[in-house]
Amino acid sequence: MPGQLTINPRRAAVSLRVVVVGGGIAGIATAYTLQRAGHNVTVLERSNGSEHSRGVIRSPPNMTRILNHWGLAPALAKTAVKCPQFRFHQPDGELISIVQLHDDFVKDLMADFVFIAHDDMRSILYEAAEHAGVEIRYNASVDSVDCDTVSVTLHPPPEGGEPERLYADLVVGADGPQSIVRTEVVGEEVTGVRDGHLSLTVTIPTELMREDEDLRPLCEDGNWWVWLGPDTLFHGSLIAGRREFSIVIGMRNVPAETLAQYTETWDLQRTYPIEHFGIDFSGYDVRVRKLLPFMRKVTAAVHVRRPILESSVCERARIVIVGEAAHPLVPAGQHNTGVTIEDAETLGALFARIQHRAQIPRMLAAYEELRQPRFSGPSPSTIVFLYISPSSSSTASRSKAYASRRCAYAQDWELRKRTMLTLPHGLEQKERDSKLRRVMAYGDWAHMDEHRFKQMWGDEMEMFSYFSTEKVEDWWTKWGSLLAGSSEKDGVKTPVSPSVEVSISNGPSRMLLSVH
Ligand SMILES: Cc1cc2nc3c(=O)[nH]c(=O)nc-3n(C[C@H](O)[C@H](O)[C@H](O)COP(=O)(O)OP(=O)(O)OC[C@H]3O[C@@H](n4cnc5c(N)ncnc54)[C@H](O)[C@@H]3O)c2cc1C
Ligand SMILES: *[C@@H]1O[C@H](CO)[C@@H](O)[C@H](O)[C@H]1NC(C)=O
Ligand SMILES: *[C@@H]1O[C@H](CO)[C@@H](O)[C@H](O)[C@H]1NC(C)=O
Ligand SMILES: *[C@@H]1O[C@H](CO)[C@@H](O)[C@H](O)[C@H]1NC(C)=O
Repeated sequence: MPGQLTINPRRAAVSLRVVVVGGGIAGIATAYTLQRAGHNVTVLERSNGSEHSRGVIRSPPNMTRILNHWGLAPALAKTAVKCPQFRFHQPDGELISIVQLHDDFVKDLMADFVFIAHDDMRSILYEAAEHAGVEIRYNASVDSVDCDTVSVTLHPPPEGGEPERLYADLVVGADGPQSIVRTEVVGEEVTGVRDGHLSLTVTIPTELMREDEDLRPLCEDGNWWVWLGPDTLFHGSLIAGRREFSIVIGMRNVPAETLAQYTETWDLQRTYPIEHFGIDFSGYDVRVRKLLPFMRKVTAAVHVRRPILESSVCERARIVIVGEAAHPLVPAGQHNTGVTIEDAETLGALFARIQHRAQIPRMLAAYEELRQPRFSGPSPSTIVFLYISPSSSSTASRSKAYASRRCAYAQDWELRKRTMLTLPHGLEQKERDSKLRRVMAYGDWAHMDEHRFKQMWGDEMEMFSYFSTEKVEDWWTKWGSLLAGSSEKDGVKTPVSPSVEVSISNGPSRMLLSVH
């Protein structure tokens, strides 16, 4: 696989005691990077460790690149499926467009676009974390977190007795969209609204599909198969070394009464046959219709839209939140896990440079500056591809504060993309389809000029080419010496630099443009 970098982890001069709340992908990934940086990490996960989610995660090149950087390429190669092309269809099956992930493109991004089962991703990270020395405790449900004493308290054990309390130098909240650590960091519960998005997930063994000649192509190439229905985005891809086909249905404008039946957290215990959701598939592609009988155990997750946080670090700067706890995205979106992996890499790379405990607040300030940099990307109207120019109403709803922060940007990006891909029949939908068609017309990578390239890929390129490790290195070169000079007593949270400009518009995209 491209993008295999040499692993040369830095180790911190002081070993901190770190407690991570939540053992999902964010928690385990962060535990891994912090342990590898020389710290002593315990993960507390409330579930019993026997749940297995077969839903699909898309690992865009920038995420795959970090995983490769962590030395996980061999493990990924066993189960992840490399994606050679995106195929967009009308609901009735008419092909709108094919987007080739040409080898040159992937080479310049230094990693592949891959599909992987949620549970496989978690297992791979789990093994890496355990191997690095992280302690992972299941059946450990955190009841409260205390910013003043930097401690977490577990729920009392079922057999009675005192609840266990753990003290730490640093607490990381990776407890998902309904985070209790976030409540402590923000000082109040962050409530949100159900905004009509419902995501359904179901996975089918390919051995059931191979028998059918219409379904067989879906089992073969690792393509991303997408059907753009009105209010319904239907897409699927292979996972688990091509042994499973995982489908996601993104529904929009779902009435509140319907949404009320489902939860935000991925409740794997409650599954439904596809008919339960009352989607009219009668005019759909024969391939979609033929998949329906296999869709017996569908999981549902509701999107709750919360305000963007001012800060992800507590007042005393010993507690930080990462992953969906810090920035919940539309369930099953394109970048959810990528953002999480990026958080972990950034935190690990910073804490590998810490020299004494008094620097924790400054490291966390640096983390915030890096994770919420000014976004210097293209204006929304030039954004094409998956994320074709949004309608004026959605442009207006982007506040300036949103647009200026990277994580916030990703949050907004997901929602707008989902909306764009579920447009009802009409003018906007036609316009979208013709743009997608243009992608196919110019799809020959080798002969693309810069203007067209930017039109098609500008936005995605920036997304894909952001690399956290480099961001931390740049930051360190600029500000590290200031930090090293800070004294032991200097424990208050002060911004390290007045502002850090991180440009993500350069890098591999330049190289790519010179490919003719
Ligand atoms: C069971 C499950 C299945 C999922 N399946 C998919 C999928 O198929 N496709 C997809 O795109 N995304 C899926 N997701 C979401 C995906 O994991 C996230 O979008 C992304 O990876 C970032 O996750 P996270 O670790 O920040 O949050 P989450 O994945 O929500 O993980 C948070 C973890 O914290 C634990 N936790 C919460 N509160 C406490 C507490 N008080 N004490 C201790 N532990 C606590 C939870 O049990 C959970 O394991 C799933 C999430 C879960 C939990
Ligand atoms: C683990 O939890 C799941 C659901 O929460 C439950 O169905 C299962 O029985 C539990 N397993 C054990 C070993 O307790
Ligand atoms: C969690 O608790 C259940 C029931 O108490 C037990 O069966 C299971 O083995 C525990 N899981 C782990 C990983 O310790
Ligand atoms: C990949 O790019 C997207 C879009 O900007 C971003 O949200 C995500 O954090 C990036 N992921 C990684 C792992 O760099």
